[in-house]
Amino acid sequence: MPEILDGEFRDPRLAAVYDALDPDRTDLRQYQQILLEEFGASTVLDIGCGTGVFALQLAACGVTVHGVDPAEASLKVARSKPGADAVTWHAGTADTLPPLQVDAITMTANVAQVFITDEDFDRVLSAGFSRLRPGGVLVFEARRAEDRGWERWTREQTRKTVQALDVGRVDSWNELRAVDGELTTHAVPVIFHHDGARYDSVSTLRFRSREAIEAALERTGFTVHDVRDTEYAPGRGWMYIALVP
Ligand SMILES: C[S@@+](CC[C@H](N)C(=O)[O-])C[C@H]1O[C@@H](n2cnc3c(N)ncnc32)[C@H](O)[C@@H]1O
Repeated sequence: MPEILDGEFRDPRLAAVYDALDPDRTDLRQYQQILLEEFGASTVLDIGCGTGVFALQLAACGVTVHGVDPAEASLKVARSKPGADAVTWHAGTADTLPPLQVDAITMTANVAQVFITDEDFDRVLSAGFSRLRPGGVLVFEARRAEDRGWERWTREQTRKTVQALDVGRVDSWNELRAVDGELTTHAVPVIFHHDGARYDSVSTLRFRSREAIEAALERTGFTVHDVRDTEYAPGRGWMYIALVP
């Protein structure tokens, strides 16, 4: 039973079933509404684009999209999808991107929580700031610490079974391993029934307070424009909207 750090994004076998295991992407609606209807963005950088679901959704709306992610296995899935040629994919992190300037930056599906140290979080925010045009907008969500969502990360409450293309039945769930202050470590076991293989993807996330996130935004040059409830999970997350002055 191999344990793989962030395996659900970085391991080819697990990245291939990431979308099948998370088919409900209603979380992306609020991002699209903010970017296109409120801010009229025509160029977008999606940081932590993973398997490219949102980047491709935007590209299909005529937006010029760049997606960046350090997980090659996820990018390989993204590049194989219909319409992928319309997106510019970058392997790496926000601070290793070539020079570019965009109207908007997104970090969907709680990417902000993967940055464990303040230095890492400030680095991605600063890199984003430098790639936004004046007046550009950064939009991302993060789970609220006070909701204590990690207490719902049990096999009983999160278990799902899906039929994935090529590999058939796959079972997966989320299980909490540890809580240490603002840090949570959880495992996502994935079981492939066709050969009985089980892999445990293990990740650590940071649950920063709203005040800490707003302070980091201001420290890195942004103006906090609005903080809203996450529409797909009311009361459980905040959607941060920050502007380059
Ligand atoms: C929960 S997934 C979200 C993927 C995608 N945004 C989505 O909506 O499906 C978190 C993503 O953050 C990526 N990631 C981890 N460290 C990163 C970093 N330093 N810079 C950018 N992305 C990173 C992971 O590889 C993974 O694809």
